[in-house]
Amino acid sequence: MAVDGRLQPAATDDAELAAQLIYATMGSMADYLLGGDDASQAHRMIALLFRRPKNRYSYQYADLALVDGEVVGLLLSYPGTMMKALHFPMVKNLFAVNGFRAALRFFYRSLPLMTVKEVEADEYFINNVAVFPQFQGHGVGKLLMELAEQKARASGLQKCALTVDIENERAVGLYKHLGYQVMDTVKIKQLERRMGFSGIYRMVKILEPVSGNQHWSASAGLHKILAKPL
Ligand SMILES: CC(C)(COP(=O)(O)OP(=O)(O)OC[C@H]1O[C@@H](n2cnc3c(N)ncnc32)[C@H](O)[C@@H]1OP(=O)(O)O)[C@@H](O)C(=O)NCCC(=O)NCCS
Repeated sequence: MAVDGRLQPAATDDAELAAQLIYATMGSMADYLLGGDDASQAHRMIALLFRRPKNRYSYQYADLALVDGEVVGLLLSYPGTMMKALHFPMVKNLFAVNGFRAALRFFYRSLPLMTVKEVEADEYFINNVAVFPQFQGHGVGKLLMELAEQKARASGLQKCALTVDIENERAVGLYKHLGYQVMDTVKIKQLERRMGFSGIYRMVKILEPVSGNQHWSASAGLHKILAKPL
């Protein structure tokens, strides 16, 4: 039987599944920054933020990969110029959904990260990419990364950038395989001390130019991959 695979923009109703995927990219950092050291609270906060506009985890910047109507993966991405405008509304959003203490804690705990340059103005930023474990290893992650490239080009940008936990060997391997290079290694002593954070790589890929009349569809790619059984 033919498999229906597609990529589509996310909506607020996707918050619960999206939160699981976003959480998978952040792990203990989500607990520390958003959950007050509690995983279920971090999940809840991510889902709440996903439902709201104008923050780094908003549905507005998310695309989903679906197989037979089931969400299997997520890409959250936006042009680098938007990042600054998204960080401070996070505090406002956290205040709105979880009160003063959570907002203040997030502000205090994210302070050491504020000096980290995650993206340049001429880059398209991949905030999160994730695939549910049972669907990993079938090319969905690669397809979502290709969608990011397509969106970068549509925004008039020729570079994609991301940050990744130094210890996330699988993701680092995938990014290198796709042509990303490590531009910086960032270690943050306070976070290392407070929550054992080992640091991040900032990785960048310079996109190949495509000719003007070339039409490319990431969804077509998903159909091809799903022709192979999962
Ligand atoms: C990272 C992740 C998104 C990859 O998704 P995936 O669907 O399993 O990846 P794919 O099947 O598309 O693999 C893509 C390509 O990378 C290659 N690859 C995967 N892991 C690799 C590794 N460790 N080293 C080298 N290449 C690797 C694959 O061989 C494949 O290339 P090919 O199609 O040319 O053979 C997925 O493992 C995941 O969701 N992890 C948890 C969340 C996470 O850590 N996200 C990243 C945070 S920044």
